[in-house]
Amino acid sequence: MTSQPDPDAFRAFEHAGWEKLPRRYHDAFASLTTQAIGPLLQAVNMRSGMRLLDVATGPGYVAAAAAQNGANVVGVDFSCAMLAEASRRNPGVEFREGDAEDLALPDASFDAVVMNFGLLHLGRPERALAEAHRVLRPGGKIGFTVWAKPEEARGFGIVLRAIHKHGSMDVPLPSGPPFFRFSEPDECRRSLLQAGFAAPEVATIPQLWRLSSPDALFEIMQRSTVRTGGLLRAQTPEALDAIRSDMRDATASHRKDDSVELPMPAVLASAIKQ
Ligand SMILES: C[S@@+](CC[C@H](N)C(=O)[O-])C[C@H]1O[C@@H](n2cnc3c(N)ncnc32)[C@H](O)[C@@H]1O
Repeated sequence: MTSQPDPDAFRAFEHAGWEKLPRRYHDAFASLTTQAIGPLLQAVNMRSGMRLLDVATGPGYVAAAAAQNGANVVGVDFSCAMLAEASRRNPGVEFREGDAEDLALPDASFDAVVMNFGLLHLGRPERALAEAHRVLRPGGKIGFTVWAKPEEARGFGIVLRAIHKHGSMDVPLPSGPPFFRFSEPDECRRSLLQAGFAAPEVATIPQLWRLSSPDALFEIMQRSTVRTGGLLRAQTPEALDAIRSDMRDATASHRKDDSVELPMPAVLASAIKQ
């Protein structure tokens, strides 16, 4: 990856990636990221009639769940392809094109803002937290999830270890903020306080990723993710073969009956706008 962070180049890279991914993202990740919806909505005190903004909504899982529970929901994403998928899956829900770092929404217009596995994809996550703070009414709550550290979220631990061992992390991709920055509870609290929020709370959500075979993890990481996929696609063919084989062996150790079960816990952070 290039050494100097360039948030605009990183944003363009992420945007181009997500535009190609809606179906594959859904097939690979829906069963996993939807596990966080209950705790995330609980953390922002979801209730019928509240105005809820789902930032980086992707295929709209959180937005749809909140709408089903009676919230007045807007889902925002910067990928038109993702929004098309979200609207197709959830015809009654309002989705809008928009940037998490620069929301075209009025001040104090929501009771809750959520972001499920979105913050770690942003070049300027501080701006997204500041924007969430701006659009929340006083007393409103923010909640976001990110992946736990790779030692705990084994899917990421396995692929990163294999790349370190057989490939190179030094590939020509736009560098973004550290992928696991918000996996640290202290960093969540610090960033939320810095954005103006009060009473930050951080918890871990246990999640399990069921995969059809030990080969599935490599296929998903290569074809259905943006940053990790870019890292894999930039490896030499020889390194990629070794990485695939290493990942297959490591994943096989999580075999459960006919499938594989990988621990993929999430970190859930929430706070209040005073
Ligand atoms: C990992 S997906 C999360 C999708 C969904 N929230 C879920 O629960 O599975 C990340 C999403 O963030 C969106 N995204 C990334 N950067 C963004 C930005 N700057 N503004 C708005 N959306 C963004 C991507 O288009 C993608 O849909």
